[in-house]
Parts: sequence; C-alpha cells; structure tokens
Amino acid sequence: MQAYTSNSQPIDRSETVRLIDRQRPDWSLEQAFYADPAIFALERDLWFPRQWMLVAHASEVPEKGRYIVRQLFDEEIIVVRFGDGEEDIAAYYNICTHRGSRLCAKDGRGKLLVCPYHAWSFRLTGELQSRQDLPESVNPDALGLHRVPCKHFGGLVFCGLDANSLPDIQPVADGLTGGLRENGLDRARIVARKNYLTKANWKLVLENFLECYHCRPAHPEYYRVNGHVKVTATRDADKAVEWQNEIEAWHSVIGDAEFHKGAWQAGDLDTMPFAMHRKPIGSGRNTLSNTGEGVSCLMGGRHAYDGGESGFRLGRLSFASAANDYVTLFQMIPRNAMETDVILTWLVDKDADNDVDADAISWMWDVTTVQDKKITEDNANGIMSRAYRPGPYTPLESQTSFFVQTYLSELRSLITGTRGAPI
Ligand code: FES
Ligand code: FE
Repeated sequence: MQAYTSNSQPIDRSETVRLIDRQRPDWSLEQAFYADPAIFALERDLWFPRQWMLVAHASEVPEKGRYIVRQLFDEEIIVVRFGDGEEDIAAYYNICTHRGSRLCAKDGRGKLLVCPYHAWSFRLTGELQSRQDLPESVNPDALGLHRVPCKHFGGLVFCGLDANSLPDIQPVADGLTGGLRENGLDRARIVARKNYLTKANWKLVLENFLECYHCRPAHPEYYRVNGHVKVTATRDADKAVEWQNEIEAWHSVIGDAEFHKGAWQAGDLDTMPFAMHRKPIGSGRNTLSNTGEGVSCLMGGRHAYDGGESGFRLGRLSFASAANDYVTLFQMIPRNAMETDVILTWLVDKDADNDVDADAISWMWDVTTVQDKKITEDNANGIMSRAYRPGPYTPLESQTSFFVQTYLSELRSLITGTRGAPI
C-alpha cells in the first residue's frame, strides 16, 4: 500500500481564516498554503470530500468479476464490475468490515472479494457473504462493504469520498457524454500509464497546469507542435495574427465552434466544473506526435484526420486531451502537503493494432509532463525559501489566478460553517 499521509494534526481554524483573508487577489499564495501539513489536513477534511475524481477507464473492468485497486485522494478504493450491464460498476473503500484489514492487495478477478485476514467474503455488490461465524446478536446485513460514490459515463469512471458532500455529477454526464463518445473514449483501451510523482503541493501542480505562460520557456517540443501556444506566447505580433487566422480558418472549415461547452472556470462549490473545446494543433499536423503523422487508427468513428485536439475538464483535478488517434487522461492526486501523484493514461481505439507504438503515442505529453514535474518542483523548492513572498499573476495566468481565488473562498466558507464544520 502506498504510504499516504493523513496529516491530521489540529489547526486553529480562526487563524486560518485570518490567513485566508490577508491573501492578495491575483497574487500567488503565502508559503503556508503550499507547505503546511495543517492546511493540507483542513483540505483533506473539508475540500477533498467535495470533489469528484476520475479514477479509471471502464476498459479496466471489462467483465463481471474484474476489480481494480485505485487511489482516491488519501484513500484506497476497489472499483468492481459487479454485473453484465453497462452501468454495473461499483466502488468500495478497500477495508474489511470485520476488523478493518485491507481487503484487496492488487487488481484481480473473482466471484467474491475475500479478506486475507480471517477470510470474510463479500459479494461483488458489497454485501457480506460469509455469515456463519457471527454472533447471533450481530446483524450481517449491516456489515456490507463501505460504498464509495461512483458514476460512469463516456468510458470514464468517477468516484468521490462522501455522498453527502459531493455536487451532482449528472449535469456533467449530460454535458460531456456526447463529446467523449465523439472522440472515442467509450470504446478505447489503455496502451500506457505513468505516474509522475511531483514533490510539490497539489495546488502548485494545478496552478501550473492551468496556465501556458510557461509553455514557451519550459516546453520547447509543445511550443513547436501547438499553434495555439504561439498565438499568446510569441513576441512577434504579425506571427500571432497569422496563427490566430489559422485557428479561425480551421474552425470555419471543421465547424467545431459549437463544441465549446461548459465552463473551465467554475467558482461554485456546489457545482462540478466541466468543459470541452476543440482547437487545431496547427501547421498541417494530423495529431500530437513528434512528426505530426498519425500514431494509431482514428478514434470516435472518424474517417479522416482533421488535425484537431479536444480538451476536457473533468472536475477540478482531472482532465483529458483527445487527438484524432489517441487520448491522454490526466489525474492529479494530492498525496500530502508536499507531494502529488500526476498520473497520465494513454488510450487508443479498442480495435487498434496490438503493436501500436506506445512511445510515439505518449511522446508529447510525456516529454511535457517530465518538464512540468521539474518546473513545479523548482517552484515548490523556491517557495520554501525564507525570502519567498507571493508574486503577481499576469493576464496569461488568469485561469490560475481564478482557481486560487475560488479555492480560498471555498475553503473559507467550509471553515466558517457556511458549508461545513463551524469554527
Ligand atoms: Fe477481514 Fe478479519 S479483518 S476477515
Ligand atoms: Fe506545462
């Protein structure tokens, strides 16, 4: 089991509210927000239970009896296919209801989930199966596995920690399922997965992910490949116009302006943010590969490359990028105050050749995420200096600034009891 830290030491909540109130709008946060285990403990208790998180692709539990062990914030969960219906996916905390042992050590398959400690067994639907050893006074029906809220749409499986705290995910399912299908996510299989454990607070990881101000200095390959970056990052005004014209010409031919949906910047705790949009990669490139040439068969029923990339926001900590022939899923999982798992998963069409080149498919986002890990860890290290002071966000970091502002107001309302335990 991974050593996730609970960091549940006590914190003076009134002091935290004063700290929140003195943060300057449109400036980065004080050091405590990026390093203090007590702040992380507050987030763990108040903010994380309100977030749906992408935990798996449905192809990982392809038939009844298959189960996988995954991380959901600081908890380990089991995601299981319990029946033959498309919707028959459930999730449970990975603990036994006898004396609390970890239930499953790894992914597997079976008719029952069996605890390795005293061999209690549970049905795939969660109920306790083995009952013969129980005292008569104990009701076995009350000893089913602890359920984890779970929702599956468009090939993606989402879970959250607490049914009473989570926002309604149905509007997201309604809004995104069509777009996910159009990009073939519902009929895909995994070709690669990698965890870029980043030694930085989860908010620094997200702050970096939400802006492309750093793309020119930090991502030479991404900058070379992606036209949209050049529009904002070039110092050459004529070039910016040229690239913008190329994007607009692409939209006028492809007709994808309608594809923009949802809000990348959602600032309401009771709403799960979601969005999708399409844009051209640029310069005649078919896909996000090193050469621009295709790396697998087309997805989503396409008959020809259109050179577009679809971007999806899936809540606050999960994202997806869909080129014409492969998809990349992004999961940011806070581990503790100073570490974040950044997990990338690459998918191709389920009927793609078995010998597709996983290195060619993962190239763009692998090289980019290795660079992001480095710059985010350098950011985290710098913030630990006694000389660190918050700095101003520029207009090119507006989404980052919005996220930070939203986070502060949400945490404040949760602490003061507008939506959580009162001070
Ligand atoms: Fe699982 Fe005893 S703790 S059977
Ligand atoms: Fe980056």
